[in-house]
Amino acid sequence: MDGFVDVHSHVVPSGDDGAEGIEDGLALCRMAFEAGTEVLFATPHAHAPWDTFPRTAERDTAYDTALPVMQREVAKWGLDLRRGWEVYPTVVAPENVEEYRLEGTRGVMIEFPGSWLDLDDSIEIVTEAGRIVEAAGLLPVFAHPERCRAVAEDPKCVRPLVERGWLLCANAPSFLGRHGPTAERTVWGLLDTGQIALAASDGHTHGRPPVLDDAYAFVRARRGEVIARRLFTGSALPWS
Ligand SMILES: [Fe+2]
Repeated sequence: MDGFVDVHSHVVPSGDDGAEGIEDGLALCRMAFEAGTEVLFATPHAHAPWDTFPRTAERDTAYDTALPVMQREVAKWGLDLRRGWEVYPTVVAPENVEEYRLEGTRGVMIEFPGSWLDLDDSIEIVTEAGRIVEAAGLLPVFAHPERCRAVAEDPKCVRPLVERGWLLCANAPSFLGRHGPTAERTVWGLLDTGQIALAASDGHTHGRPPVLDDAYAFVRARRGEVIARRLFTGSALPWS
């Protein structure tokens, strides 16, 4: 099969909770490549100002410095490393949305608020972010909806997003139960109701690696090759 497309990772050092430096990032890229990934998007956190990893000038400099160095190095192996962000919904605005674009696509990855944030308005804020992205002629790609409390409690709440043609991108480890039983149950339910467009690693570290081969094999064994290939090869992405 063609290689995997992993649209969500923290393999390029940016001062978030992913790679600690270029050497560490290259080791993570090597893991991804050896596990079958051909296209890997770096998507550092762009958190809300009140959260752990908002963008700063220092973080932007670290990212902008490391990314081209790493791109050149991994290209020698045959790995296509691309620029992106994982942006928190309230950070997205008409004046900044273009800079969050996933390189070579019309997609913008928006973070679904995780259950650890204990919000009551998750669906409202991701929907508003989606509207802003769409109004700019781009397509929202929502990261890990299955890890959001509102979605776990009422999975139907994401149906309006999917009906607009917006993409839900599950974390591949959720299929394996690595984000806990609630996310596991939720992600399989979303998949079996036709609502998951993509699966990505959200790889951060050697302990939470940017690999897709194990989840791909698991999904293929349970739901068949056609479904697994669609999720893991980026076929739903709006390539440009
Ligand atoms: Fe992430």
